Amino acid sequence: MDTPRCLYVHVPYCERKCPYCAFNSYAGSHRDEAETYLDALLAELGALGPALQLETIYVGGGTPTALAPSALARLLDSLRRVASPREWTVEANPGTVTPEHIRALVAAGVNRISMGVQSMAPDGLKRMGRIHTADDVRDTVRALRESGIRNINLDLIYGQPDQDVEAFVLDVEAVLDLQPDHLSLYALQYEEGTAFTKARDAGRLQEASEDTVLAQFHAAQTRLVAAGFSQYEVSNFARPGRRSLHNLNYWRNLPYYGIGAGAWGCVDGHRVLNESEPRTYARRVLEEGTACVSKEELGPQETYLETLAAGLRTAEGVDLKTLHERTGLDARVRHGDHLNMIVERGLGAMSDGRLVLTTDGLWVLDELLLPFA
Ligand SMILES: C[S@@+](CC[C@H](N)C(=O)[O-])C[C@H]1O[C@@H](n2cnc3c(N)ncnc32)[C@H](O)[C@@H]1O
Ligand code: SF4
Repeated sequence: MDTPRCLYVHVPYCERKCPYCAFNSYAGSHRDEAETYLDALLAELGALGPALQLETIYVGGGTPTALAPSALARLLDSLRRVASPREWTVEANPGTVTPEHIRALVAAGVNRISMGVQSMAPDGLKRMGRIHTADDVRDTVRALRESGIRNINLDLIYGQPDQDVEAFVLDVEAVLDLQPDHLSLYALQYEEGTAFTKARDAGRLQEASEDTVLAQFHAAQTRLVAAGFSQYEVSNFARPGRRSLHNLNYWRNLPYYGIGAGAWGCVDGHRVLNESEPRTYARRVLEEGTACVSKEELGPQETYLETLAAGLRTAEGVDLKTLHERTGLDARVRHGDHLNMIVERGLGAMSDGRLVLTTDGLWVLDELLLPFA
């Protein structure tokens, strides 16, 4: 398999844990622990080689801007020394971004910020346990732009408990006022072990109805398309030229490096996973040279199914000829009847050997994938 052109770097700290979030992230400042954690991250980075031909770097979390500015600068400087990617994204929470953080981002050459917003309404922000206000979002976007960062993504969550369609439309309009380059709209997922899921299971929180969630999405989609965004993946909208190259790499099921606690990587035909607990991760990297907890070879059938599962989420779909060349498995031969059904029912279209799902098809993506397994 080809050498990865993309690198994911995980920072597992957040100022506070949001009640819906199951990401590998831990509340608290962790400022002492973070230095040892960075030692380990940089050791993993060093093991990848002295010069990396990377197209993209994505520093995610958790909340990278929950690091002290000096720690963030140390991480970013080390990355800058080994690569000069075309797209370099850092995730941020508006409640944690200071002028010192912005200076560190700009000095290193970070050119894309992805910020968690979730809601622009005071009751929505409170319900979602966020540490910031809508004005913090506005101020942070302004400060980032003024410092020269041109490519900004904002995340919103819909399907929140007690959020009607109108409330979500107001959130969308409020973020559109900030002229973001990219928007990710996520339907709230009730993840195992989160405070939201416990509250729902105890009857203290009412899940939004499927009709509301669908209506919220359609209302947002209409507004974003009218505002000049194109939906290039189920949850992602971009202005022209602003699609996330890093995420496209995942959706094309191409290899990538992943470093940090709980990070996945896909390298040399294997999927690897690191230990998720940050102190154990750091100790293992520093003492044993690796914190890998699983390494799985990706056979043709896995690659076939995963390429379809990821690619069919996108507007570019999946080129079945390339998939055949890559895996030796030809969907047109193996699953010809299923492909015909998808097209006949208006769930997808074939053009130039590419299968692309329609909006109706995207809503039943999981079912459509079953026969390919
Ligand atoms: C790592 S966070 C982004 C940066 C930063 N940690 C923050 O929250 O501001 C990634 C994004 O995942 C989304 N997310 C997290 N948990 C989710 C859930 N249970 N359902 C839907 N979206 C979720 C949120 O939109 C969040 O902004
Ligand atoms: S949503 Fe972001 S800030 Fe909230 S706990 Fe998850 S990673 Fe941390």
